[in-house]
Amino acid sequence: MSDFLNTLFARQSVKFVQAPGPDDAALDLILQAAVRAPDHGAVHPWRFALVRGADVPALVDVAVQAGLDENKPLPAHKVAGARTWLSRVPLVILLACRPDPHGRIRPEESRLAVGAAVMNMLNAAHALGFHGFWSTGLGTYLDGMGAALGFDPLDEHFMGYLALGTPIEAPAPAARPDYRNFVRDWHA
Ligand SMILES: Cc1cc2nc3c(=O)[nH]c(=O)nc-3n(C[C@H](O)[C@H](O)[C@H](O)COP(=O)(O)O)c2cc1C
Repeated sequence: MSDFLNTLFARQSVKFVQAPGPDDAALDLILQAAVRAPDHGAVHPWRFALVRGADVPALVDVAVQAGLDENKPLPAHKVAGARTWLSRVPLVILLACRPDPHGRIRPEESRLAVGAAVMNMLNAAHALGFHGFWSTGLGTYLDGMGAALGFDPLDEHFMGYLALGTPIEAPAPAARPDYRNFVRDWHA
């Protein structure tokens, strides 16, 4: 099997990571990988914000406040879990999508392009020796969350978080499904 496929097949998500995270050179490669995702119409819909080190735990406070502002307070156990999770994460990439302003490309296709970019980042991070975790678990779907994080409330839709770093504990090998359960032939 090719080195590329070996790397791809070995990737697995790890939620609880710590420093070291990607340095500037590694982050540059990870972001270069992001913008190589397929993107119908070259919309370039991906919008990212980098949150590093000491700023990371404050994401929980932003989500808590957004929940209160919308009269949808986050459950205490979710807040506690997020504080534990983000207390040691060295880098979070905030994920957002700006759909085609001219309406040529359907918005869902731009979301798919952002998702493909996130997958490229996960794989690039893995190839560079880091682990990551893609999450929507912290206030992602609150109406005001994107704006609270600095995204344009009119046309940049917040999509969640990509946390990157080094596993706190070595992960057990991930079980993977048998693709044959999901694949069929089609004949004319
Ligand atoms: C869009 C998206 C959002 C996700 N949000 C969460 C989340 O909030 N909490 C969670 O436990 N896993 C979440 N996951 C799943 C993890 O990122 C991860 O895929 C899962 O733990 C399986 O790990 P694997 O990548 O090694 O298969 C999300 C995945 C995607 C694609």
